[in-house]
Amino acid sequence: MSRKILVLPGDGIGPEITAEAVKILNACRDAGLDITLEEGLVGGAGFEAFGEPLPAETLDKAKAADAILLGAVGGPQWDKLEDISKRPEKGLLGLRKNLNLFGNLRPALLYPQLAEASSLKPEVVSGLDIMIVRELTGGIYFGQPRGIEEREGQRVGFNTYVYSESEIERIGRVAFEMARKRNGRLCSVDKANVLEVTMLWREVMERLAADYPDVELSHMYVDNAAMQLVRAPKQFDVIVTGNMFGDILSDAAAMLTGSIGMLPSASLNESGQGMYEPCHGSAPDIAGQGLANPLATILSVAMMLRYTLNETALAERIERAVGSVLDQGLRTADIAYEGTRKVTTAEMGDAVLEAFRAQR
Ligand code: NAI
Ligand code: MG
Repeated sequence: MSRKILVLPGDGIGPEITAEAVKILNACRDAGLDITLEEGLVGGAGFEAFGEPLPAETLDKAKAADAILLGAVGGPQWDKLEDISKRPEKGLLGLRKNLNLFGNLRPALLYPQLAEASSLKPEVVSGLDIMIVRELTGGIYFGQPRGIEEREGQRVGFNTYVYSESEIERIGRVAFEMARKRNGRLCSVDKANVLEVTMLWREVMERLAADYPDVELSHMYVDNAAMQLVRAPKQFDVIVTGNMFGDILSDAAAMLTGSIGMLPSASLNESGQGMYEPCHGSAPDIAGQGLANPLATILSVAMMLRYTLNETALAERIERAVGSVLDQGLRTADIAYEGTRKVTTAEMGDAVLEAFRAQR
């Protein structure tokens, strides 16, 4: 049966980078992959057309799709919107919540060709390949009650950090499975010395470990994990953590690779349906100028093939094509340095396409 891919370009550089990724999806179809592509509006683009960042039509298409490829949402023209429920970012949160995309996979992989882009010494980062598994639909970002209210003559702000055993267990299983497919090492990050919710987190991870005797489980407090990521990042294989810690640590880990334009991500639900997107935002400062790096979005297509469509060979073929254009010295502005050849967004996309077609 033909599988449905929904493409949501979004705002800013979103349309430019997804256009390059769609070239690769079409090439996969030419290579025999049975997919149909549809487009939809989300974020500021959804707001402009329908008055909603997540129009009902888009949500319906998203529910019917096997996988979603998202560019990015947001931009300064919508930051002034009084009604925060209309802000572009709500489109993204709405998709995550409605599709129950609780499992966020954020690889931090250093391409050997880009070692100079990292702020860390080559010996500290060369060969870096970490997978962060972040819980995405629970924890303190969603816990109730929350708010700002008047108490005893002054305002107090409050949020609730809550995880149920079943929420911890399902993200734990994603992480153990991931570790099993990689190098068999899983580090669970918590703050179990202070926060009860993460004491429970640790207990559930320990219990799950019995089902995965081939995976070596360790635990680390989040403050130490932040330190270790900068000190000796190669000690990690798979990291599993809650929503907020994962938000922060995955951005830090991503930056060890030095290039925001290179990093893909996946967000999965229990049935394997997934949303795939670059880690970066809509980059309004460079939108429409052909400066954006499309590789994070193209690598998100590779993740889609691996994790939702179970087409590992095609995923690897895309990743090899990306490696090949980097070998050729082609660079968009964000990853360019002396001795490399600067190319535009579309030139980079075309080069990957050509390298993809040249392989089999
Ligand atoms: P950003 O990631 O859009 O940009 C940060 C910096 O990185 C900018 O200098 C930008 O030019 C550069 N950059 C980002 N992606 C690039 C690429 N592919 N190639 C070359 N350079 C790239 O983050 P920022 O500036 O904080 O946010 C801009 C807008 O994006 C805001 O409206 C924000 O809310 C939204 N945003 C959306 C996200 C999403 O859709 N998932 C995630 C993060 C931010
Ligand atoms: Mg973040």
